[in-house]
Amino acid sequence: MAPAMLVAFALYASLVRAEPYNTFDGPGFPACNNVSTVYKPTTVDETITLVRTAAQNGTPVRASGKGHMWYDTMCSDNPSTVIIRTENLNRITDLSLPPGAQDGSVMIEAGVTFFQLAEYLHANNASMGYTLVNWNITLAGSIAMGAHRSSLREDSMVAAGALELHIIDGNGQLRVVKRSNSDEWLAASTSLGLLGVIAKVKFKIYPDFKVYAKQDILEEKAVLDGDIYGMIVPYGTANFWWWPYLRKFHLRYYDPVPAGFSDQEGFQSTFSVTKAEADIAAGLLNSGKILPTSNMAAETLFFSLWSAPNFRDKRTDTAITTWPVYGWNYDVLIGGLYPGYGTQWDYGLRGETLELAFPIPLANAVLKRVRQAFDAELAKGIVMTSTYRSGINIKFGKAYEDLLGQVSTGTADGADWTKGAMMFDFPTFKPNWGDGKRFNEEFYGRLARDLIATFPCRPHWTKNTREVFEVTVANGKLDPSRLARFKSVRQQFDPKGMFKSVVGEILGLY
Ligand SMILES: Cc1cc2nc3c(=O)[nH]c(=O)nc-3n(C[C@H](O)[C@H](O)[C@H](O)COP(=O)(O)OP(=O)(O)OC[C@H]3O[C@@H](n4cnc5c(N)ncnc54)[C@H](O)[C@@H]3O)c2cc1C
Ligand SMILES: *[C@@H]1O[C@H](CO)[C@@H](O)[C@H](O)[C@H]1NC(C)=O
Ligand SMILES: *[C@@H]1O[C@H](CO)[C@@H](O)[C@H](O)[C@H]1NC(C)=O
Ligand SMILES: *[C@@H]1O[C@H](CO)[C@@H](O)[C@H](O)[C@H]1NC(C)=O
Repeated sequence: MAPAMLVAFALYASLVRAEPYNTFDGPGFPACNNVSTVYKPTTVDETITLVRTAAQNGTPVRASGKGHMWYDTMCSDNPSTVIIRTENLNRITDLSLPPGAQDGSVMIEAGVTFFQLAEYLHANNASMGYTLVNWNITLAGSIAMGAHRSSLREDSMVAAGALELHIIDGNGQLRVVKRSNSDEWLAASTSLGLLGVIAKVKFKIYPDFKVYAKQDILEEKAVLDGDIYGMIVPYGTANFWWWPYLRKFHLRYYDPVPAGFSDQEGFQSTFSVTKAEADIAAGLLNSGKILPTSNMAAETLFFSLWSAPNFRDKRTDTAITTWPVYGWNYDVLIGGLYPGYGTQWDYGLRGETLELAFPIPLANAVLKRVRQAFDAELAKGIVMTSTYRSGINIKFGKAYEDLLGQVSTGTADGADWTKGAMMFDFPTFKPNWGDGKRFNEEFYGRLARDLIATFPCRPHWTKNTREVFEVTVANGKLDPSRLARFKSVRQQFDPKGMFKSVVGEILGLY
């Protein structure tokens, strides 16, 4: 950057009024309550210059991908914070997958999204395997925060696909951290963005493959009293959706099919809605703030819609009406938006969430505890429901070792995490009127505090409120020696604490 530009940058940064930096949900949903400037660099070198300048000025920095997170936990509460938004850093290079090889690699810049990489890989007969999540989200942002798909059989932490992380540290130096058993790697693998800006990632890829998706409806008892591990572990990816009012579960599962098995090209959409559908849902759910019968009607409607395949054939854009559905890896596992449709949040449907991971041997006890909590409300005459179009999401994670991930083993809590974790992900509708509080709002905080106090557990790093992190720490759920090891790596990468976040502060890493 030319000196004149640096001066302009410094001046600009000092004059700009602090304002919120929002999540994907837009105004009223801050990821950071107050930031001074949002930069959108287009090269890694430009990003390094931004970090160096900030380091010289003592300006706090946070990297951001697409803002696909829920609460005001991205930054620290320092209004001079600058955001480095990575979406214009999106080159994909160095694809290597020799014919006949079982896996290969590709180099991506920080702003590359799952959509973008999946399309690129598919065009090259390659795929990401199972180390992916939904969808208009960056791989770097997902790796930073320990995001994951749902599998007990396959590695499904996005970080598990990372082979190298190129991180711009607190001195503006680009460090290449390679997969190993070192604390440096174990910290970088789920860094919460506290080591610096992840600028590039070398990512593991596989030959492309087709999969099927199938879904069964189960009675609630069959899951609460069932062999949960045994229901999930056979598949490449599998999860439950819970419908507590109807006392039912969907079990969704996916696995590869041999090449040539089916020529169907199924394309999944979890979030596509039309304006008319969104308006109906919003009408019901907004009245459900005070009218439980609306919530019951909504859950019943959502359950029946969710029982049919949420897939179309990619070639013709026609609905697929029967299970199983077949198609290419990413199209079936994630998919995207149907042509001409919007997302639920495009049409003003807003949500809150909570996500906690528990060791698999306690999966039944956790779900029963939640059922007890629902029943205790019912005994008071209060009917609790799922107010989200895909129910309560029960996901799973195979063990994967790093210092701050949700699925590492051998921690001080003494719990058995070796079989993996069950994630209880409870998305709920947030009404758009009055005080914005949900039906029976106090229930949600009470449930979170009870689950955290009762079971060994770990929070998802972008799906929880500040309070959930505070309660987790207060209940001693996180391994102090792992936190200390992480902190020592953090001090080497970022001695001045310029990449600090609310989460890092609550974890005592500063
Ligand atoms: C619709 C939806 C579906 C989702 N599905 C899943 C799911 O299936 N499984 C799951 O685990 N999570 C899921 N998430 C959560 C999501 O994966 C994480 O919140 C992810 O971190 C968001 O990435 P982003 O690129 O939007 O980053 P942002 O939201 O912009 O940032 C998230 C955090 O990562 C940090 N960060 C971002 N980029 C970098 C970087 N380059 N270097 C350092 N730090 C960085 C930010 O500072 C911030 O703290 C979902 C979120 C949404 C909105
Ligand atoms: C944002 O910063 C301004 C100016 O520093 C301050 O007045 C305001 O209270 C801050 N807002 C929040 C939500 O922290
Ligand atoms: C992908 O595979 C198909 C079928 O084997 C082949 O025709 C095509 O050339 C391949 N494309 C690339 C980019 O390798
Ligand atoms: C992805 O996010 C960008 C904003 O970063 C937005 O403009 C675009 O519409 C989104 N795409 C989808 C399919 O939601």
